[in-house]
Amino acid sequence: MDIFSNEDTEKYDRADALKVFDETKAGVKGLVDAGVTKIPRIFIRPHDELVEELNSSKVSLQIPIIDLTGSEKGDRRKEIVEQIRVASETWGFFQVINHEIPKSLLDETIDCIRMFHEQESEIKMKFYSRDRMNKVRFDSNLDLYQSRAANWRDTLTLSMFILDDLNPDEVPSICRETMLEYIKHVTKFGGTLLELLSEALGLRPHHLQDLECCHGRTFVCHYYPPCPEPELTLGSSKHTDPSFLTLLLQDNIGGLQVRHHDQWTDVPPLAGGFVVNIGDFLQIVSNDKFKSVDHRVLANHNGPRISMACFFTGVAVPPKIYGPIKELTLQSDGSTPVYQDFLLRTLMCMFMCHTHDGIFGPFTMQRSTSLRF
Ligand code: OGA
Ligand code: NI
Repeated sequence: MDIFSNEDTEKYDRADALKVFDETKAGVKGLVDAGVTKIPRIFIRPHDELVEELNSSKVSLQIPIIDLTGSEKGDRRKEIVEQIRVASETWGFFQVINHEIPKSLLDETIDCIRMFHEQESEIKMKFYSRDRMNKVRFDSNLDLYQSRAANWRDTLTLSMFILDDLNPDEVPSICRETMLEYIKHVTKFGGTLLELLSEALGLRPHHLQDLECCHGRTFVCHYYPPCPEPELTLGSSKHTDPSFLTLLLQDNIGGLQVRHHDQWTDVPPLAGGFVVNIGDFLQIVSNDKFKSVDHRVLANHNGPRISMACFFTGVAVPPKIYGPIKELTLQSDGSTPVYQDFLLRTLMCMFMCHTHDGIFGPFTMQRSTSLRF
């Protein structure tokens, strides 16, 4: 090996360091518990990103907050549908308040995620896995071996993507009861939102649900430990979501940001609220009418921060073909399909199997470019 080749040595060391970290099965929380005061190098963002960050300005725009009171019918529903249309076309993100899920259940869900991550490490480690076929798994950084820098975050994932099904006994007992109750509520609420989104696209209320967009849910329960050097790393790198729709529950710490007009904008925690965002698949089936936008989470001295995202992905089995909705691509109004039809499985595989190409982060709408005409 050429000892002057800095790059090779760095690559070798990094691979080794990643493996050592992975094999602890203790995640980032394990590092914090061990008392680290400097973050290990695998978490440090590349130099070009840190420089770009220093030079970026921040604006204080406010992402739309939509009050769902009275959304069942009449003029109030029309008003809400219109607000959702504007938010989905311009921001790809909005927050909702006065929705149908009790606040007490949201608080309990955050608490039970905390309990999972803070339980005895021997029990938690039993769930540690990188096998994406496991429906229930705990890990730190899904893309640990592909990303340019690891994120300051651990995650418990419950996945129903392959078949829309989860055996309750597989859910960790420490959070089982609350989690199952939350899943029930959030699934129903997802259906309600998909009706409003269908109408916002000018379609019949059940259009998106009939495409089975709210089947195949994946829940990611994140734990962002306090970080001793938050300016050097991120809680979650910039990405878009590989879903139709994502519903995000966050606690009161903050750190989530969305990209709007080329600027990072905070998504401030809203007690009892939900963050709703359009995923890549909805951007595609809406023929680019709705936008799946980049977002990320900052690391923070304060913490832990807890959040839970529910991705409505559609199901892989049986295979189903998706593409821009015909009603939205009628030649008569001048719009033609922007994307080719695709199998969800193929798109998900592009997402899962993508290795970093040095230009775009692995999880961005860029991965769908090959579907564009
Ligand atoms: C995600 C995500 C944001 C958060 O899981 O895709 O964007 O606040 N999470 O944890
Ligand atoms: Ni996301």
